[in-house]
Amino acid sequence: MRHLGLTLAAAAIAATTLAGCTKTSSPASTEAAATTTSPATMSDADKAKALAALPAPYKTADLANGESKFALCSTCHTLAEGAPNMTGPNLHGVFGRKAGAVAGFSYSDPLKATGWTWDAARIDTWIADPKVAVPGTKMTFAGLKDPKDRTDVIAYLMIGTGFKP
Ligand code: HEC
Repeated sequence: MRHLGLTLAAAAIAATTLAGCTKTSSPASTEAAATTTSPATMSDADKAKALAALPAPYKTADLANGESKFALCSTCHTLAEGAPNMTGPNLHGVFGRKAGAVAGFSYSDPLKATGWTWDAARIDTWIADPKVAVPGTKMTFAGLKDPKDRTDVIAYLMIGTGFKP
């Protein structure tokens, strides 16, 4: 884990250096976000800090379990800012965003028609059983039946997608 912390520090330095030059800083900030918001590459200390900043009950979630459950999602979803859509849309910034709003992703009509804004409670219901939550959805995922697994994966999503409490 220690070398990952160093990688992050190096990325932060690179981002600072790039931001200081006169060129547009947006590619640099995208790169930095892609590196720094992935819990998979954070040091244990940074993970603990990020977790403690979340609202209850997510602040006491088991992030390691959330990470291992997110493996079920990561075949279809990326989390980092600017990362590509795959079978599912990129989830960066999903908390507080309207359902079906990622540009360039072809959503099902039923999901777009929900009019939902994603928050933790909505996502909890959604990932428990997507086809029950939104009949006709394109998300072919059987669902996470254990509420604790959902809480853990939502905590992981919050940290990985740049959720702001
Ligand atoms: C087999 C691929 C697949 C898997 C696995 C999958 N998803 Fe999805 N996901 C999709 C697709 C496709 C959509 C778009 C659904 C639609 O348009 O009806 C979607 C939509 C979503 C959305 C709504 C995004 C938006 O912009 O409105 C969220 C949130 C989400 N998924 C979270 C998850 C989580 C969390 C997991 C794991 C627990 C997961 N997904 C597993 C394919 C998948």
